Amino acid sequence: MVVLVTGSGGLLGAKLVRELVGRGYEVVAIYRSSKPLVEGDVDFVRLDITDWVRLEDLVLKKKPEVIIHAAAYTDVDGCEIYREKAWRVNVEGTKSIVRVSRVVNAHLVYISTDYIFDGEKGLYREDDIPSPINYYGLTKLVGEELVKSSGLLYTIVRPSAIYGLGGSKKSFAEFVVEQLSSNKKIKAIVDQYVSPTLNTLLAEAVAEIVNLRPLGILHVAGPVLSRYEFATKIARKLDLPVDLIEKAKLDDFRDKWVAKRPRNSSLDTSKARSILRTPFYDIEYALELFSEEWKNRIVSS
Ligand SMILES: NC(=O)c1ccc[n+]([C@@H]2O[C@H](COP(=O)([O-])OP(=O)(O)OC[C@H]3O[C@@H](n4cnc5c(N)ncnc54)[C@H](OP(=O)(O)O)[C@@H]3O)[C@@H](O)[C@H]2O)c1
Repeated sequence: MVVLVTGSGGLLGAKLVRELVGRGYEVVAIYRSSKPLVEGDVDFVRLDITDWVRLEDLVLKKKPEVIIHAAAYTDVDGCEIYREKAWRVNVEGTKSIVRVSRVVNAHLVYISTDYIFDGEKGLYREDDIPSPINYYGLTKLVGEELVKSSGLLYTIVRPSAIYGLGGSKKSFAEFVVEQLSSNKKIKAIVDQYVSPTLNTLLAEAVAEIVNLRPLGILHVAGPVLSRYEFATKIARKLDLPVDLIEKAKLDDFRDKWVAKRPRNSSLDTSKARSILRTPFYDIEYALELFSEEWKNRIVSS
């Protein structure tokens, strides 16, 4: 069975391609600038998802049964400043993906975000009303609406604060380990809550979704933690000095950020936990995996 993945060079996409190949799927992996390092038989295609003509040619040729749309302009402050680009990639790009999915009647898996919520409540359920407070969240929410009204069979997956290794950008967890390993102090926010999601486990969960094809929205994320609690858990797991982590307040960062951040965008994952077997919610297991990946990375570099 052919599965097409967009954003294959990203933090999630690179792990996803590896996971799908490992499960024996024929993977067509779209990347734009950074091609992931994945062993095995992968059909890599360099393409901009807003290029509807080339995208349609590719889809007609490969005929994927499932399309996983993980590509996005994910720089939250960048989206606030370069609104045209954010709209082009996250909305027009998703429109292209919906159109080509219709051409081959593929099941569409759209990777959305916790940032569609305003963060006033926390532990959001799938049927809570979205109300984004920044432009990134707004464009991702419009993407969700395009998917919902497409007439396609779809699964919308909402993770939160993805971390891990691989991909072209550094995640918060990697930053924490790098700084603490070189005895540098970091600041971590005590009053901003997310549900940190390890890319490896998210990729596993999405691969399960490809197999089961549950319909509707699923919150696939870790447990609720403040950025400070998350950083200290990472430090303890990797035997790094916790006392180098300084407590900061969300208000201290407000004038450093262009876009507003939700105060508590954590997600209730009970629905996904009742459907999927992957322990994406288990922070101790996730950090164990992350720690192993980190150690292997040091050894091999
Ligand atoms: N990171 C998080 O904390 C987080 C949290 C919740 C939800 N999400 C969602 O999860 C998904 C995956 O996120 P991620 O962290 O893996 O993001 P990422 O590392 O920034 O990867 C996004 C990928 O999209 C590609 N892309 C951007 N514009 C494109 C275009 N016009 N055409 C083709 N490819 C394009 C990028 O390619 P280039 O880099 O080569 O341009 C990049 O490889 C996204 O949909 C995001 O909205 C992320």
